[in-house]
Amino acid sequence: MKIFLDTAEIEEIKTAARWGVLDGVTTNPSLYAKVGGSYDAILQQICKITPGPVSAEVISDDVEGMLEEGRHFAKLAPNIVVKVAMSENGLEAISRFADEGIKTNCTLIFSTNQGLLAAKAGASIISPFVGRLDDINQDGMTVIRELTEIFSLYDIESEVLAASIRNPLHVTQAAMAGAHIATLPMKVLQQMVHHPLTDKGIVQFKKDWESARQAAGHDATGHDA
Ligand code: E4P
Repeated sequence: MKIFLDTAEIEEIKTAARWGVLDGVTTNPSLYAKVGGSYDAILQQICKITPGPVSAEVISDDVEGMLEEGRHFAKLAPNIVVKVAMSENGLEAISRFADEGIKTNCTLIFSTNQGLLAAKAGASIISPFVGRLDDINQDGMTVIRELTEIFSLYDIESEVLAASIRNPLHVTQAAMAGAHIATLPMKVLQQMVHHPLTDKGIVQFKKDWESARQAAGHDATGHDA
């Protein structure tokens, strides 16, 4: 399963890229609002950090407006994917983008049928929002599982991206449900790295090493004095 970072924070993206675990980035207007500045400039910076897909979301409600925004984003970098919210106009825009060879990520997917329609319209990425479904007492992971099964049954090439991930368990569940991609806030990525026994083990190993080196008359760095 590919791992994307769900953020517009450049430093977070640089960190995940240095760890060697970053396959792409998703942004949205709310994430952009947290950092501010020029959305275009931020997108171009992100696209330089990762060669993977970088989602840039259109905000127009009408088809022509979506097309205008999306074409503009697509010119910013070769790895831009235009993010379009699920709607009747959104489907039409996705279909037109597909005809133009512009990749799209259909966002705000909350049902399997919405995902199926977005794939048929030509979206390359389909984004069900797992956490927001869980918030209203519906099992978000069911949509991920159903869509991956359907796409596999019918050889549909669109990728299922588990969005609105809130915790590390969601990541494991998304992978087990066959999600092709999960997009994570930096906090969840960091939570995945850590385990209390790992952190405790590192401290203990260091302590034991230092005691052994001191007992042997060497300095604690690991180098012979
Ligand atoms: C991803 O593409 C979405 O924009 C994002 O995962 C939404 O997450 P949220 O429900 O935590 O806002």
